[in-house]
Amino acid sequence: MRKILLGIFSMGLLACNQPQEPVAVLEKRIDSLENQLENSYKPGFGDFMGFIQTHHAKLWFAGQNENWELADFELHELEEAIDDIQEIHATREETQYIDMIIEPLEKVEEAVENKDKAAFTQSYQTLTNTCNQCHIAVDMEFIEIKIPDSPPFTNQIFTPKE
Ligand code: HEC
Repeated sequence: MRKILLGIFSMGLLACNQPQEPVAVLEKRIDSLENQLENSYKPGFGDFMGFIQTHHAKLWFAGQNENWELADFELHELEEAIDDIQEIHATREETQYIDMIIEPLEKVEEAVENKDKAAFTQSYQTLTNTCNQCHIAVDMEFIEIKIPDSPPFTNQIFTPKE
């Protein structure tokens, strides 16, 4: 990281045709940037779960309305959040269990690609069970997820656009 940043800095300076700054000055600047990066805002595990809860619910209504484009979009939101957890919370103990959700997500993705509502409903149930399996694995069995009864938002249309 340090070497790459140093390289970019030097290249930037050369490109600007400015006199090269001493390495010590550049290193000091990199230290300060690294420090800023370290202390910058990162969403917590719980923040990601709130996001996942929203898109898990939207995914259901997209699938039930056979709005496969929206379902595909919601799936990618879920996958992105899982990727981010793996990256940002790599050292959290709970992250070791996150892999269990990948296969169920792929099954839903397959159903969405095939525009198969029956397969969607079945794979969505398995996905939801897996949310709970992980909550049990991390001793949070009191966080119980289910198939939603009503859309999470009233200001969004879940049926496909005519
Ligand atoms: C690593 C395995 C894991 C998986 C898989 C997982 N969760 Fe979680 N979930 C957690 C952990 C850990 C927390 C507690 C986060 C914290 O510390 O704030 C949590 C918290 C939550 C919360 C917060 C509860 C609240 O009331 O604020 C919700 C909602 C939630 N998860 C939904 C889901 C949904 C929906 C899925 C499936 C699509 C899912 N989770 C899959 C581990 C997981």
